[in-house]
Amino acid sequence: MDLCELEKSSEISLQEVASADTAQALEALRVKYLGRNGLIPAIIKSMKDVPKEERPAFGKAVQAWKASFEEALQAKIASSTKENHVECDLTQPGMWYEPGIKHPLSRVIEETAEIFGKLGFTVADGPELENKFNNFTALNTPPHHPSMDRSDTFWFGDDCLLRTQTSPVQIRAMMSAKPPIRIICPGRTYRRDTTDATHSANFHQIEGLYVDNLPKKPVSLADLKSVLAYFAREMMGDSVKVRFRPHFFPFTEPSVEVDFSCHVCKGSGCRVCKDSGWIEVAGAGMVDPRVFKHVGYDPSAVSGYAFGFGVERIAMIKYGIPDIRWLYENDIRFLRQLG
Ligand code: PHE
Repeated sequence: MDLCELEKSSEISLQEVASADTAQALEALRVKYLGRNGLIPAIIKSMKDVPKEERPAFGKAVQAWKASFEEALQAKIASSTKENHVECDLTQPGMWYEPGIKHPLSRVIEETAEIFGKLGFTVADGPELENKFNNFTALNTPPHHPSMDRSDTFWFGDDCLLRTQTSPVQIRAMMSAKPPIRIICPGRTYRRDTTDATHSANFHQIEGLYVDNLPKKPVSLADLKSVLAYFAREMMGDSVKVRFRPHFFPFTEPSVEVDFSCHVCKGSGCRVCKDSGWIEVAGAGMVDPRVFKHVGYDPSAVSGYAFGFGVERIAMIKYGIPDIRWLYENDIRFLRQLG
């Protein structure tokens, strides 16, 4: 066989591989060209008969043929097993994927959105990196309020901070729309807290805001209470009671703190509620007229309420979780218990 014949044989062998369409045909080609009595080994064996000066070129050509033939054969085998799944071993044990479980924080957020959705609230969103105006100034927080201090808030320069509450979303919602507004906003919030069983520097809130035009629909504290009581029953069960305690927030007037009756002892006092029978879950109140002014509303033409829940708080009482850190450790054994 001379170099020219070799080229021809090489070409034919590759064509045969290309047109072989069964595993048996490919195997037959492998035997024909590479097998113990195959063509390529035979040619290599006969190299000694090739004239000395042609041998290097001839040897190179045989090796190149062998390499390209092997490569073509492997590629064809790989693609045909992929197409036909011929190599799938049905006796192998299957892979077992356990169904996942939603994180308790996600569950509280989703359930809250669903409950308020029934009351006509839609879900709004806002950034975690906020400016001073949205997080403080427009919310009627005076310039030297302690919450603005560097020891309480994560600042990046003078006008950029990690939001300390979801309340700036109230400002964003009012600045981008006219009443009626009915939104909730779940999201991450940040404070320079040291972490312990009930505090974390990063936690979640769900803000709520309802504003409507006067005098058509004067919004009252009674509306706020009835909405929160409805939420409490849907979230915690029918027996839960809601209590308002007077409080102060710069952006609501009057302001209240909202307690749910303890679902563990039903109000008689236990470890979970620190023997008080009540658990604080939210801040709330009627939107302060100064906030309306900041967003460009006429305070004599609108009224509304706002509230802000702690998501961890609700998750902890709903699922009986004693330590907030368990919510962030991603321990599958903990999550599984709540499944
Ligand atoms: N933003 C307040 C807080 O983080 C809660 C709140 C929201 C109070 C809305 C009143 C109205 O404590």
